[in-house]
Amino acid sequence: MKRPDIVFSGMRPTGRLHLGNYWGALKNWVRLQDEFAGRCFFSVVDWHMLTTGYGDTSRLVENGREMVLDWLAAGVDPSKAVIFKQSDVPEHAELALMLAMVTPLSSVENNPTWKEQLQELAKTKAGMAAGGEATKYEENKAGANYELRTYGFLGYPVLQAADILLYHGTKVPVGQDQLPHLELSREIARKFNHAFGPVFAEPQPLLTPTPKVPGLDGRKMSKSYGNAVDIAESSQSLAAKVRGAYTDPTRKRATDPGHPEPCAENPPGCSVFALDKLYADADFVSRRRRECLAGALGCSACKNDLLGFMEPAFADFRGRREDYASRPGRVEEILAEGGSRAREVARKTMDEVRRAMRLR
Ligand code: TRP
Ligand code: SF4
Repeated sequence: MKRPDIVFSGMRPTGRLHLGNYWGALKNWVRLQDEFAGRCFFSVVDWHMLTTGYGDTSRLVENGREMVLDWLAAGVDPSKAVIFKQSDVPEHAELALMLAMVTPLSSVENNPTWKEQLQELAKTKAGMAAGGEATKYEENKAGANYELRTYGFLGYPVLQAADILLYHGTKVPVGQDQLPHLELSREIARKFNHAFGPVFAEPQPLLTPTPKVPGLDGRKMSKSYGNAVDIAESSQSLAAKVRGAYTDPTRKRATDPGHPEPCAENPPGCSVFALDKLYADADFVSRRRRECLAGALGCSACKNDLLGFMEPAFADFRGRREDYASRPGRVEEILAEGGSRAREVARKTMDEVRRAMRLR
């Protein structure tokens, strides 16, 4: 009997989310919760956060709450999807332990994310030792007692496989960067089935083409670059950020021809124009491209137009966010309810797993 598709995705509780998170992930979640109504699980994976962030857990709960508020602001709906916290469902740990039994050491050691992160950390440490500048974020990561070569971090993809398989997840909306992890989840599912019988379907990545969201300085939007726009940024702060955004350094006057798209003269391309593509309609975008190329308007006028397109979308998100945030205990209640729905499924799966493993 073929089971229905189940969508599973998770995010580490990093606090407030930005437009990159929205266009890259949340927008898909909101679509999927309708397409797979009642069969979507969206998890705050706080245990995954511990794999690299165990050194400072003081803001873990608060960051989880802020992140969930942003999910809700973006339109993730607790009546359509199960929203829950990984640590509320201890079966994640139990399944991770069982899956670890069949996970070859070579598979986790060759995990590109693990290798990259270790390299990055080594570089940061070397750079700091040489007196180089490090961001606050990098400093925290490279802190004196900071050890990344842990059993827990090596096991990151095993825990991720457990997340998905615990719900018999078949469709996993993730970004390109997560493909190696997904491949490992599939391998682990196969290994388990081979050892104990066919319990798990192999989860498939759900790659939806996501637009590139530039940060305000022309680089990729990222919290650690300090170039991000939050999902429910206030009106005032949104305006200030857009007015300060990177445009086209070759333009000195409003009549100078501009370079809206990435090109030799303006390699990153204009951030304002890239945002136009996300927030304005196609007609406006092609008109704006022509106007910019012809030097027919100044960048500050152009930025005001963009703000006009962004503001209503942000007002919407802000409204929903404030609505949820102003009801005391509402987020906690959503997580508790989601947690018990998730746990019900998780318990059933663990029964199957224990039986397949002849533990009972
Ligand atoms: N590793 C994912 C990330 O960093 C987060 C994650 C944990 C996840 N468990 C998951 C994503 C299960 C999808 C499915 O983005
Ligand atoms: Fe960018 Fe608009 Fe200025 Fe052109 S006119 S460079 S699109 S801000």
